[in-house]
Amino acid sequence: MKKVLKIIGYTLGSLLAFVLLFAAWVQLGPMPGYEVKAPDLKIEPDSARLAEGRRIVLTDCAHCHRGADGKLSGEVFMDDPAFGKIWSANITQHPEAGIGKYTDGELAHLLRTGIKRDGSYAGPWMTFPLMADEDVASVIAFLRSDAPEVQPSERRSRPMELSFIGKMVFKNFLPKPFDYPSKPIVAPAPSDKVAYGRYLATGKWECFRCHSANFETNNELEPEKSVGYFAGGNPVGDKANPAVPSANITPDKETGIGAWTEEQFSNAVRFGKRPDGQPLSHVMPPFAVLSDEEVSALWAYLQTVPPIKNAVQRTPIQH
Ligand code: HEC
Ligand code: HEC
Repeated sequence: MKKVLKIIGYTLGSLLAFVLLFAAWVQLGPMPGYEVKAPDLKIEPDSARLAEGRRIVLTDCAHCHRGADGKLSGEVFMDDPAFGKIWSANITQHPEAGIGKYTDGELAHLLRTGIKRDGSYAGPWMTFPLMADEDVASVIAFLRSDAPEVQPSERRSRPMELSFIGKMVFKNFLPKPFDYPSKPIVAPAPSDKVAYGRYLATGKWECFRCHSANFETNNELEPEKSVGYFAGGNPVGDKANPAVPSANITPDKETGIGAWTEEQFSNAVRFGKRPDGQPLSHVMPPFAVLSDEEVSALWAYLQTVPPIKNAVQRTPIQH
């Protein structure tokens, strides 16, 4: 009997020691670091790239990176009592406070993988693994340009302040950094409408990320495998707007946008106006910069997505 008790005692003891060690590792251990295997790149800033980069950066990157000084100097990105605080970085050209020291290759590597120049991981929300090489080049060209939004800002980027739970999630449960692509990524020609629309919805503007069931169950590299692909319900919020569930934009007639016209779709995507006249939450960046060709391709592609019945309860928005 005594022996049994002793064994139980030892077992519980080692279990407790293991739990304590694990907790200490989560709380005190270093955040994961990765190797930066940046490609050798030199981006030529021609006028087409600068114009395209402006569209992408000021719509997409600015949504998270615009700071109080109007430049891309960073802001609070996440402030969650359970998870902790994350700030988007200063991505102006300042050599110390911003990204002035990044090479073109290091920037491309970060945008693909999520790994920063110092080897730390910016998180899966900051990655564009399926964006075409030409669009990535445009983004980099614009970040190097003389546009006022990217001129040096003194604001210092702030490191993440994660809670115990936040650290545990970040270290163990978030998707790990992606590999740098081994092959060139080329966007389909706009004349190949559905394929081009798919590229816009998954690779370039990443609509599927917010519009599938949940960030946690998305498949970033094979978007179609995301749970509830385009069927909405993902609660999305940001620093300026309370969280609202994303909309079902599959072609389901009752719960999706199957009964909409292309014009109604265009008004919603570009101007944040629903067919019933109600404004959409600014959680979704108003994609006013999209061309007619892009909206039409997105619409054509979304018609081909499998319809899913998922009635999302809308939160009416007051602007
Ligand atoms: C969903 C929000 C979000 C979007 C969209 C986003 N970023 Fe970020 N970005 C972040 C966050 C948050 C960090 C910092 C995370 C950290 O503390 O490491 C970051 C970090 C960075 C860094 C690293 C800076 C450094 O100091 O090493 C660069 C460069 C960057 N982003 C560029 C971009 C560009 C270019 C785009 C658009 C193509 C973009 N980001 C879009 C949230 C975002
Ligand atoms: C940052 C997250 C996010 C991204 C990226 C995003 N959306 Fe949205 N979208 C939302 C949210 C949240 C709503 C619901 C807003 C509301 O109910 O007020 C929404 C609503 C919509 C609606 C209105 C549907 C309805 O029934 O009211 C359409 C259409 C739409 N999005 C299309 C798109 C397209 C196309 C893209 C890519 C070009 C895109 N969205 C990218 C978050 C996003």
